Amino acid sequence: MEYEEPLFFRVMSYAVAADGDVIDMVSGNPDWGAPAGIAEGLHAYADTGGVDFQYPPSVGLTRLREQIADRNDVPVESVVVTNGGGEANYLGMARALSRDAGDEVVLTDPVYPYYPGKTQMLGGEQVFVSADADGHLDPAEVAAAASEETACIVVNSPNNPTGAVYPAETMERLVAVAEANDAILVSDEVYDHFDYSGQFASALDVDSSHRIVTGSFSKTYAITGFRVGYAIVPDEHVDAVRTRHMLTNVAGSRPAQYAVSHALETTDPAYHQANRDLVEERIDTFTTALDRAGAEYTDPEGAFYVMARFPGIDGTLENTFRLIDEAGVAGMPGESFGTAFDDWFRFALVTPRVDEAADRLVEYFS
Ligand SMILES: Cc1ncc(COP(=O)(O)O)c(C=O)c1O
Repeated sequence: MEYEEPLFFRVMSYAVAADGDVIDMVSGNPDWGAPAGIAEGLHAYADTGGVDFQYPPSVGLTRLREQIADRNDVPVESVVVTNGGGEANYLGMARALSRDAGDEVVLTDPVYPYYPGKTQMLGGEQVFVSADADGHLDPAEVAAAASEETACIVVNSPNNPTGAVYPAETMERLVAVAEANDAILVSDEVYDHFDYSGQFASALDVDSSHRIVTGSFSKTYAITGFRVGYAIVPDEHVDAVRTRHMLTNVAGSRPAQYAVSHALETTDPAYHQANRDLVEERIDTFTTALDRAGAEYTDPEGAFYVMARFPGIDGTLENTFRLIDEAGVAGMPGESFGTAFDDWFRFALVTPRVDEAADRLVEYFS
């Protein structure tokens, strides 16, 4: 897959410049607000000053690393705080491609487009394995696609764009495929707080030096602008990952890490449950309307996206622009996620106007 510019920005700009009122279902920016601990943490940080306004440790604030380690039951030394899950994925993939263990990166189709973009940037070769119609991944197909040329396998559960949540058995078998081919499984788990199936399983549940798990507070706390994520990296790879992180960034943002650490201390689990309830309600509203519009759709088990296929209209960029102009709803073209779902569109349920968007689509397609 060629990766030239983030298509997401093109669709957003088109929607903003469109004549009529357009409902934005393009981005993955949650609209439900951060927990109070984030703002409290920022205020408290503003009053510190002095040494606290200087560089944090490159690997992240010690307190934050301890909290992440505790929550994930891993040694604190394995935690590297990054500039979002995006950097954590980059570090994992770069480590895999730089250890002379092959040039190929096995990716799923559909795929979160930044993975093929990073693969291309890092000089790797993309190898795609198609997901099933329901977005699930067959580890036997991943095993068949992998070889001694495989440096890295990148998976994402709960999945963007399909909403699939891979069960524990899939995660175990994916780690085993990475081990069998001396590759690294990069398991992107940034939507771990958005599991509606009860099936979510982290790759951390399988002890192995062949998996790097990436996470983020962008979605967990609705703070995509803060840029705080992390990688959990086995001993064998952690020095290389720390060094690349330091040479690229020096360190991450101290105020943002401070605020996240405060939120981790103070946020009630009810905050996450309320967000899950809200997204589930939106999924229900949106998919009920899609039924009325005669569309096929994915039934997400996690994350906050629905993919839909409407009769007679493929998920191209051109048709995405058409839906913006003629229906007043902006989604993402399925073709931007690969070929397996290229006649679908993806809609992000991160707007309070999901009902209205659903009505517009029903009216447009009936
Ligand atoms: C699957 C996936 N991974 C990573 C990211 C990037 O997350 P962050 O904001 O933590 O860099 C996103 C953002 O939408 C995503 O959907």
